[in-house]
Amino acid sequence: MADETTRLATAAAPDGTTDVPEHLRRELEEAFERTVGGEGRVEPRDWMPEGYRRTLIRQVAQHAHSEIIGMQPEGNWILRAPSLRRKAILLAKVQDEAGHGLYLYSATETLGVDRGELTEKLISSKQKYSSIFNYPTLTFADIGVIGWLVDGAAICNQVPLCRSSYGPYARAMVRICKEESFHQRQGFELLRTLMAGTEAQRAMVQDAVDRWWWPSLMMFGPADGDSPNTQQSMAWRIKRHTNDELRQRYVDMSVPQAEALGVTFPDPELRWNAERGSYDFGAIDWDEFTAVVKGAGPCNAQRLAHRRAAHENGQWVRDAASAYAAKQEARRREGVAA
Ligand code: 3HC
Repeated sequence: MADETTRLATAAAPDGTTDVPEHLRRELEEAFERTVGGEGRVEPRDWMPEGYRRTLIRQVAQHAHSEIIGMQPEGNWILRAPSLRRKAILLAKVQDEAGHGLYLYSATETLGVDRGELTEKLISSKQKYSSIFNYPTLTFADIGVIGWLVDGAAICNQVPLCRSSYGPYARAMVRICKEESFHQRQGFELLRTLMAGTEAQRAMVQDAVDRWWWPSLMMFGPADGDSPNTQQSMAWRIKRHTNDELRQRYVDMSVPQAEALGVTFPDPELRWNAERGSYDFGAIDWDEFTAVVKGAGPCNAQRLAHRRAAHENGQWVRDAASAYAAKQEARRREGVAA
């Protein structure tokens, strides 16, 4: 908790607004920099620069949207899971993603935005969600590969976010990462089972790996030289590593796992570089990444249409909840007045 910043902000703006007199702004900025630079946590009531607040809303909202849209590719297989055990696991995982979305929307609300507003921005394509969820899940092996590779990439990207400078985001990430780690293990376990099966099952796994490997690398975002936000986000300690650093870490951890599983990655340039102590890998198709982010991926239209329809179909639930809350509030007031 940045006590000093809070004290300053409260003294400067007792009504809770961030509109502080100019003569105190420098002092507030310095206190904020000291908190962030000293590995302290910025909390919702602390003063923060407007750019920091906007960057967090952008990143955390995109993250929340990704969790919610990310339920769709896997939800596609719940009714077709091959056994009760696999169905129960998949149901639990998809429910976890919903929970992650809700923690993250709650974190954005501490920054002064409403989740209804963010949902509107998602369904009108004004805010992004992760490119990875615009690819189709064609076989049940995709469920295993999503757990292993996609959740694996998510863990690699998100564990450092547990040390993000914004308190509510960092705390949400601790819980999310614990659950993501379970998600990855169930994916790997499913794939091991398939790899111990028939030739056709092994081929199904390899086919899924071939389709998901490059999109998983794209999850880490553009190359550092083309990432407009990284530098400032690192300075504010919202992000703790660059996109390329995390992508390399992910490649290095995934190759031995692929070997243990008995699959290969579709990259002829993938090889160990003893000098760097890391794997070299081939060029990412950034044109594909850009197209998917801009809405031209294989499933973008379907994902957004589904989310829009779910939102519209849920209107009666929101209306009922609001009517119930209004009734409770009226009763409370009557009770106070009596
Ligand atoms: N898909 C879609 N958009 C992407 C993207 C991707 N894979 N990678 C980057 N972008 C967007 C950024 O949002 C940014 O857009 P904007 O400036 O218009 O808002 C633009 O491309 C430039 O990228 P930057 O590198 O400058 O952006 P960031 O500094 O925000 O870095 C990030 C991108 C690494 C994804 C970072 O935002 C981050 O770490 N976010 C938190 C994690 C997250 O959102 N993960 C999404 C997947 S969630 C998930 O995997 C769920 C699990 O259940 C599987």
